[in-house]
Amino acid sequence: MLLDCVNIALSPLIITWYYIKRKVFLTRKQFPCVLITGGSSGIGQSLAIEFSKCKYVKTLIIVGRNENRLKSTIELCQKNNPDKTEKKILYKCADVRNTADMKRYINEWNEQYHLDLVIANDETIDAGISVTTMDQHSTSYNITSKILFDVNVTGVTNTIAPAITMFQRRFEKDGASGHIAVVGSLSGYFATCDSCAYSGLYKTHFFRINTTKSMVRFLCEDLRPQLAKWNIDLTWIGPAFTGSNMCPTELNSHRLGFRTSEQAASIIRTSLEWNEECIDFPTHVFTLASLLGSMHPIFFSLFSDTNCSQEYADYNF
Ligand SMILES: NC(=O)c1ccc[n+]([C@@H]2O[C@H](COP(=O)([O-])OP(=O)(O)OC[C@H]3O[C@@H](n4cnc5c(N)ncnc54)[C@H](OP(=O)(O)O)[C@@H]3O)[C@@H](O)[C@H]2O)c1
Repeated sequence: MLLDCVNIALSPLIITWYYIKRKVFLTRKQFPCVLITGGSSGIGQSLAIEFSKCKYVKTLIIVGRNENRLKSTIELCQKNNPDKTEKKILYKCADVRNTADMKRYINEWNEQYHLDLVIANDETIDAGISVTTMDQHSTSYNITSKILFDVNVTGVTNTIAPAITMFQRRFEKDGASGHIAVVGSLSGYFATCDSCAYSGLYKTHFFRINTTKSMVRFLCEDLRPQLAKWNIDLTWIGPAFTGSNMCPTELNSHRLGFRTSEQAASIIRTSLEWNEECIDFPTHVFTLASLLGSMHPIFFSLFSDTNCSQEYADYNF
């Protein structure tokens, strides 16, 4: 309890220091070559459009599995290129779950275009299985939980691990380095019994959205200080509800702190340029999420959900 109070008291001081540091000491970064996974829709697509508007961006590479959606992202990027400057905007159909492919592609892109910023943004909620009709006892329940973990955790490590090696080599060769960003979620700050997160469309998964997101958040917090040795910047991005395929605006605009994907992309791009370690937004939802996360675990037992417990009791682990 005492620690919670210290936490609450310190937070405004930390945030104030953060903004002073940002305004006074940091110089704005530029990223001539940007790679975005999950660029075929939602936040990833808006990020691609946002970066395509930047004069300093010379090469933009987007990754996803759906070729048509990737192509329409490219068209939107070309349409939004304000001064029609020469930019390479490329796409690749790839599955981030494939470790070998991701390693090969990232190394190839780096050799050809010299990557500066790698954004691991992909996300799945249902992996092609209709979750609204999904029965948690069925094989699809099992498969979906695994896919959720594979995309949200393994997919992220498959993207950032080769990027880290590549930036380490670059640093050792000529002292230069790069920037990695991971799109997580504010749901990575706390556990809930029922993870009807975002759109409220999906039922409980064994690997919850919150679980996968908190894993990735801890990974970022763990890696960031270690990577400083090679001058590699690592940014964790924690949005709240944001309009996307996963969280359709028409169903979710009433939700706390809702932002459109365009608003989210603008916040993310600016904050990356200011080299912020964490981009959690909006601030009031982040404050709430981090307060919930700092609660004693017993706190959540007060809200135990008997239906949810029944699901687990019935589930054959
Ligand atoms: N929307 C929200 O409310 C919200 C809130 C907090 C955090 N976030 C985070 O924001 C990020 C983007 O989500 P979003 O809301 O923009 O979702 P989205 O519209 O569903 O986009 C997900 C993207 O991930 C790609 N993807 C999924 N599985 C993939 C795979 N195996 N290999 C390669 N690409 C894959 C999809 O492309 P293909 O289908 O073409 O493969 C798509 O481009 C996620 O990390 C999510 O957790 C979202």
